[in-house]
Amino acid sequence: MKSKRLSLDVGPGPSPARGTTHAVDVSNDFVELLGNTRRREWGDKAFKRIRYRLADAEKGLPYRDDLFDRVTCNNVLGSYVDSHKAIPHMYKVLKHGGHVSFLVYGAALAEDIVRSMRSTGFVGVHKRSSDKYEDDDYVITGTKK
Ligand SMILES: C[S@@+](CC[C@H](N)C(=O)[O-])C[C@H]1O[C@@H](n2cnc3c(N)ncnc32)[C@H](O)[C@@H]1O
Repeated sequence: MKSKRLSLDVGPGPSPARGTTHAVDVSNDFVELLGNTRRREWGDKAFKRIRYRLADAEKGLPYRDDLFDRVTCNNVLGSYVDSHKAIPHMYKVLKHGGHVSFLVYGAALAEDIVRSMRSTGFVGVHKRSSDKYEDDDYVITGTKK
């Protein structure tokens, strides 16, 4: 039987990344908002597929090691969360061969995150400009070896 791909969104707020199966946010307000927003947009069935929990991404993620195929964290690192503290926790819960994707604002922050990812152990780290929200947005991706 084909096993389900598990995808964690860290700090989803009201807009978790597409395909998210699990979401973790520090704020209960955001968790409730997420539920309401996605319930309206996707209907009850799709909404029920996201399991979310409250946790502080700087302190640890409430999942076992090597669990997720994908971790996303958009518009959170740097502005809300210390990336040096949070990136190692995301690395731990990713499977070997799993992918991470960050959306961040600002070239200096993006470069700092690239360095932090490499020192954590991510390989294939790649940074590209994105104009998703702002001119100075960057998407950074990498893989856990
Ligand atoms: C600007 S919103 C980003 C929402 C969404 N990812 C997006 O791109 O639209 C930032 C989110 O990070 C969450 N957050 C802030 N500090 C956090 C922490 N220490 N751990 C987990 N989530 C946190 C906030 O509660 C909020 O939902």
